[in-house]
Amino acid sequence: MIIRSTDDIAPSEITPQAVHARRRELMVALGAGLAGGVLGARSAAAAETPQAELLDGVTRGRFATSEAQTTFKDATSYNNYYEFSTDKYSPAGLAKRLRVRPWEVVVDGEVARPRTIGIDELLRLPREERIYRMRCVEGWSMVIPWVGFEFARLARLVEPTSKARYVEFITASQDTMPGLSYRVLDWPYGEGLRLDEAMHPLTIMAIGMYGQVLPNQNGAPIRLVVPWKYGFKSAKSIVHIRFTATQPGTAWNKAAANEYGFYSNVNPEVDHPRWSQATERRIGEFRKRPTLPFNGYAEQVASLYTGMDLRKNF
Ligand code: MTE
Repeated sequence: MIIRSTDDIAPSEITPQAVHARRRELMVALGAGLAGGVLGARSAAAAETPQAELLDGVTRGRFATSEAQTTFKDATSYNNYYEFSTDKYSPAGLAKRLRVRPWEVVVDGEVARPRTIGIDELLRLPREERIYRMRCVEGWSMVIPWVGFEFARLARLVEPTSKARYVEFITASQDTMPGLSYRVLDWPYGEGLRLDEAMHPLTIMAIGMYGQVLPNQNGAPIRLVVPWKYGFKSAKSIVHIRFTATQPGTAWNKAAANEYGFYSNVNPEVDHPRWSQATERRIGEFRKRPTLPFNGYAEQVASLYTGMDLRKNF
């Protein structure tokens, strides 16, 4: 398998204009933060951001929503990352300790060519920007410009066998993670998809956002992004991907099976036992908006579930 190098493509030819513009803004913000004697809260935060490493060679991807994007600040300061904290404002600071190098992803199970792939090889795969709506099960949503590649591309590197029907995603456990001493979830955080869901072109492995390397609190160095499912399916900081014949266990399903099903497709008609899923609040907005079936991606993915009772398979 030959990995095409993106080095020979001039970034100016293919980087979306929006990424260029944000890059300029970021450079200005970083410059101001570093040069200024007295730092304002905003520029201080920008100067402190250790993940300001910009990604080149990002092409514009399919399925981009034109809705207003969540600010970088909101997307990187209001997070769910339970290995660090169950509080949403703490991962931004605590996850600075996450060790993101060296990093390898073991890809095995029902595949013809199991492999351990170094992160730098994954970072060389052609990357594109996908601007996705993301809906958290707790009722808030964001619009995030991810940078990544389709999961199907990674699957082709290992050649799933005919026995493979599901994919399990297992995430990092490190001594840098204070949350692991609390048994709120069965660590390591694991997630799963049916093989056809994983292979759907909407499913990506993200290595960046907002034209930058993925911030630690958002799941560096590599995470799953499945935009038609509740946010908890999009597992962060993945170290192991296993193709399986049987449905894998998943962190939230193991914690509360009556509340979090295996599928977890965004569905305004199926309430969480403790709250409605009919509306959501976009971070940065005050009014609530209606939640859309499959988070607005029904046209692309509804056919994956033809004939299934989505109330039972929630
Ligand atoms: N992945 C790991 N490893 N640990 C987590 O706690 N939280 C999930 C998901 N992936 C989580 C995780 C939940 S509940 C959500 S809503 C999203 O990450 C949040 O992603 P974000 O912080 O980038 O918005």
